[in-house]
Amino acid sequence: MSVVGILTAGGDCPGLNAVIRSVVTTVDAAGPHEVVGIRNGWQGLMEGDTKPLGREDVRGILRAGGTILGTSRMDPYVHGDGYASVRGTLERNDIDALIVVGGDGTLRTALRLSEEGVRVIGVPKTIDNDIGATDVTFGFDTAVQVATDALDRLTTTAESHNRVMLCEVMGRTKGWIALYAGLAGGADAILLPEYQLPLDEVARIIKGRHRRGRRYSVVVVAEGVEAPDAIHSEKDVFGFERLGGVAYRIAPVLEQLTGFETRVTVLGHLQRGGTPTAFDRVLATRMGAAAATLALEGADRVMVALHSTRIEPVPLAEACAGIRGVDPELFAVARMFFG
Ligand code: F6P
Repeated sequence: MSVVGILTAGGDCPGLNAVIRSVVTTVDAAGPHEVVGIRNGWQGLMEGDTKPLGREDVRGILRAGGTILGTSRMDPYVHGDGYASVRGTLERNDIDALIVVGGDGTLRTALRLSEEGVRVIGVPKTIDNDIGATDVTFGFDTAVQVATDALDRLTTTAESHNRVMLCEVMGRTKGWIALYAGLAGGADAILLPEYQLPLDEVARIIKGRHRRGRRYSVVVVAEGVEAPDAIHSEKDVFGFERLGGVAYRIAPVLEQLTGFETRVTVLGHLQRGGTPTAFDRVLATRMGAAAATLALEGADRVMVALHSTRIEPVPLAEACAGIRGVDPELFAVARMFFG
């Protein structure tokens, strides 16, 4: 009999519950094994805050946003002494393998723990879609859908008022959400950290469009772009700065350069909350099932990844080697539609 632990850590994202449900169901179907849920990410592992998870605990959670286990931005290597601070919980619960559902910071912590002897299987989670070694992360599709719906709505009101609308989306240092939502929503310009257009270039695009008779524009701004007079906030335990609001610094500059009234909408956590799209439910379910199977088979230090249509294990170290930005070809396609 195996005991599989599971925790969700870092920022939440739609599809986490689908992973938990899938892990529990897969383990249950495989035989007399057990799943131990760890509450609030690494914090619960440090504090011994666990609960057994059976089939009844995960019924009906497929479409629920958030995570029934809770999450936190704690890190045993920052708030404790690494493996020593989590060992008691792992031993008391006889956990043979730990499934860690997280983004790049969480997966790096998981890698360190695995180097100290904890058997770890990673599941890549983030709306930012920036984890290496997988084609896509679950949560991203939902965030893109939310942002696209917002752009559709902003477009009609922009047109009524002859305004320039800036829509700020999440994505920290990589602009995947901005790029995809901008493409899907027909944005007139997209500002990404990877390929940041100078603001006078954005103003030129907007003025050109208005000269041609379209007297409104919608611009997508990734939260991680550089802006005039940006205020840098404190960093969290993973070294990540708290972002949000950069579009408020860009708007007055664009307004001055174009002469057009410019308004800002920051989508923020709306992109992370709520029910996952069908795509994310399926991807999260497949990743959860693969992670559970790998845990039961004795795999170690791997992460499940989507490669084309297949879910495959990749070395955890490969996934942690660096985050993944938007491909230049994709940006070139989006750029053709600017203005
Ligand atoms: O990493 C996912 C993410 O949603 C980023 O896009 C965003 O910058 C960050 O988390 C916000 O995190 P928090 O909710 O902890 O402020």
